Amino acid sequence: MNFPAGLVKRIVEKTGTPVYIYSAQKILDNLGAYKKQFASLQPLFCYAMKANSNGAVARLLARNGAGADVVSGGELYRALRAGFDPRKIIFSGVGKTAEELAYALRSGILFINVESFEELEALERAAAGLKLKAPVSVRINPDVDPHTHKFITTGKIGSKFGVAFKEAGRLYSFAKASRHLEPVGLHFHLGSQIDSPEPYAKALAAAANFIRRLEKDGVKLKYLDIGGGWGVKEGSEMLPPGILARTVGPAVKELGLALILEPGRSLVAAAGALAVRTLYRKKSGPKNYVITDGAMNDLIRPAFYGARHPVIPLVRRRGKSVRFDIAGPVCESGDFLAQDVGLPVPLRGDILLVLSAGAYGFSMSSQYNSRPRAAEVLITGKNSWRVVRKRETYKDLVAGEINV
Ligand code: LLP
Repeated sequence: MNFPAGLVKRIVEKTGTPVYIYSAQKILDNLGAYKKQFASLQPLFCYAMKANSNGAVARLLARNGAGADVVSGGELYRALRAGFDPRKIIFSGVGKTAEELAYALRSGILFINVESFEELEALERAAAGLKLKAPVSVRINPDVDPHTHKFITTGKIGSKFGVAFKEAGRLYSFAKASRHLEPVGLHFHLGSQIDSPEPYAKALAAAANFIRRLEKDGVKLKYLDIGGGWGVKEGSEMLPPGILARTVGPAVKELGLALILEPGRSLVAAAGALAVRTLYRKKSGPKNYVITDGAMNDLIRPAFYGARHPVIPLVRRRGKSVRFDIAGPVCESGDFLAQDVGLPVPLRGDILLVLSAGAYGFSMSSQYNSRPRAAEVLITGKNSWRVVRKRETYKDLVAGEINV
């Protein structure tokens, strides 16, 4: 059990609720499973910081050999602060500003995943300004459907991400001809919560053809970055990474490029739970509600993607199971953490654990309804834990505001 009841009870007594609780061991186990299954390929695992950018989580991964995938100057700042080796950091995203590009170049990161011709020009200008040669990788849009939620599908033509192969050819020629650009890699990222290796295989086959053509044109790459996106089973454990390794392995070996993966969710989702407290129970016609102190501002995934997170009570009450929705105090009908849960109705004050909340939980949280953001805790041993982010206060809500 990642979240032993006795320990969780002590944590919530100390920190209050809502609180995110992460298991360091589980994060390391997940990284270990990736390393083991991909051993023959020796890839660099660049943790997608956006999944959970808490410094303690990031430091744990950095200390254990991971690199980082960042998508903003802020994430780059966090990654450097957490101790990731700059030579293991890559920068992705469709809209990097000139300042962000310069920051990445000054930091000496491994490469920058470029997503449009104009961005490549901006990168060249930034590199020229710093009298540097920028290491570039082009993000391909291979037009592959990853069969996932439309909001997290990125590798289909028509999405804002990447460039088609034809356009990519133009980007590589431009980079090759420039004194300030060095084409070093090729990147794709198909989407998130992908549950089959098939889309990766399809994209890889197309990318391999393209890479061979590039070689004929004198562009010799070093890195193949196949993105993140490997999913977790409905709300819990990561899908076994072995299937993915076995599927992409042969093609990657044949190409002879260094492999990079950008896992986010699969490393941290199951390692996190959101602990909330039952405030009130009520009925509305046929529906039963349990109102908790955690809400959509803390965990937006159920409201935004219709994501289903398993919920378990810290103490299981006796009595027959009843179906109810778990809703928060936010003034929106879309504010729910789970719908149609079947459990004995919790008592007021009971703690519920919303599972699989380690990824895109706190990192997507907000102060909507002027709710201070939750605390974050890292379980570091059998009986040890640390607060790794304090609960925000009312003062934090107004900290940046200026009275006029
Ligand atoms: N690399 C790139 C370029 C990405 O855009 C992403 C995620 C990843 C790696 C990591 O993907 P992962 O391994 O975590 O699936 N907020 C959504 C997920 C958005 C994913 C965005 N990009 C959710 O809560 O489901």
